Amino acid sequence: MSPASASMSLPHPLALRRDDLLPGRNFINGQWREGAAGRWLEVSDPATDAVFAQVPDSSAADAQAAVDAAHAAFASWRMVPAKQRAQIIKRWHALIQLHHEDLGRLISREQGKPLAEGRGEVAYAASYVDWFAEEAVRSNGEVIPAPVSGRRMLALKEPVGVVAAITPWNFPAAMIARKIAPALAAGCTVVCKPAEDTPLTSLALVRLAQEAGVPAGVLNIVTASRERTPEVVDVWLADSRVRKITFTGSTPVGKHLARESATTLKKLSLELGGNAPFIVFEDADLPAAVEGLMAAKFRNGGQTCVCPNRVFVQAQVHDRFVELLAARVGALQVGPATDAASQIGPMINARAVDKIARHVQDALQRGAQVVVGGRRLPALGPNYYAPTVLVGADATMACSCEETFGPVVPITRFETEAEVVAAANDTPFGLAAYFFSNDVRRIWRVADALETGIVGINEGALAAEAAPFGGVKESGYGREGSTHGLEDYQHMKYVCQGGLA
Ligand code: SIN
Repeated sequence: MSPASASMSLPHPLALRRDDLLPGRNFINGQWREGAAGRWLEVSDPATDAVFAQVPDSSAADAQAAVDAAHAAFASWRMVPAKQRAQIIKRWHALIQLHHEDLGRLISREQGKPLAEGRGEVAYAASYVDWFAEEAVRSNGEVIPAPVSGRRMLALKEPVGVVAAITPWNFPAAMIARKIAPALAAGCTVVCKPAEDTPLTSLALVRLAQEAGVPAGVLNIVTASRERTPEVVDVWLADSRVRKITFTGSTPVGKHLARESATTLKKLSLELGGNAPFIVFEDADLPAAVEGLMAAKFRNGGQTCVCPNRVFVQAQVHDRFVELLAARVGALQVGPATDAASQIGPMINARAVDKIARHVQDALQRGAQVVVGGRRLPALGPNYYAPTVLVGADATMACSCEETFGPVVPITRFETEAEVVAAANDTPFGLAAYFFSNDVRRIWRVADALETGIVGINEGALAAEAAPFGGVKESGYGREGSTHGLEDYQHMKYVCQGGLA
């Protein structure tokens, strides 16, 4: 297949209005280039597994060229006044909004989420770009009262340097936005490797950044297959000019990046796996708790790192909650993004469906029972799994220990607050937790006791550009969004001037 056929024959309901948003090449030093090794990576539609585009399967040479360009551009980009950087990022935001329909279609086409969700993700991504454009001009340092006379003491914020951004497939636009926008706002330059399953949205966003006026070399992107990704990322890990790695993905990969970047002591932001508990206390508003769980669990078909993975319901309200939830889950429409009625799309690939099926099988063998779902949906396509509710889940099951990353709700009955808080915290992970209660004393006791970076109280939709997103324990460190999301791309320089007395 030639690169020109990256947008090949798309008489498809998710076809783009602007075909050139599919450049099908790497972007290095302001140029769209084929990969140095001349290899290609095929991109398929998870609804059918049909290949519909291709991008370079890059090599170490491409990674090297990207970091050379980013390093050379850093010297001038860091000196561009914050207001000017902010204006460029604002233009990027405006172009994302202008092309939101194409971007939404692209997300749905390569990632599988229903079109309404694809469009929603564009708005979500744009909110981070807008936020960091505004933060760029408010990144004040400090004037420190000097402890001796004749001195001026300042703490200045500086960009860390070249940032390597490694992004996941589940939010192909939002994760790029909330890593690249703060990096550019801070004055950093970027090399980016998007997920192998969803490289197209990232390339389209970079195309729009180019149109917004991001100078050559400031933003570089190289695509690579799962097999070639280590070759690309190893170049960046070894290069001391790369001063920061920002990664969203699995905990084992995050640990690998932390180990390997230790030799050059890079700054790290790691947004890793979760195992979120969702707790329903007997004093909760049950219909609200059901709606909260639907919003948190079934967003992106359950393929979200903050998705509730373990649901705990207090004994007094267990049966009623299960009944209400089963009615809602059983009514979910599963189907391709092209069907406006779809609420749950295909999973990203066969590996993902196999993992979900394995978790459900394991739970059933260990004593759980299916209330709704519990099966693949081959009539729809190769990668569909039915929204599922299980009861009788316990801590021995794979679905309680690992992220299922699919539309499965395993429910565990509990008796006391102390018991459920201990169970919720009994995991190496600590990204998000949710609970529903109307008892104000309990609310603050439980919020304080939960060992996670994010807590939702009587709320299922937590993420927002103004809020710090990130975990504790083996869910990683660093924060995305909020003012802290900019600080992650800066270091502090203390400047002391003496002899002023
Ligand atoms: C993620 O799943 O990595 C991010 C989810 C979010 O932004 O809410």
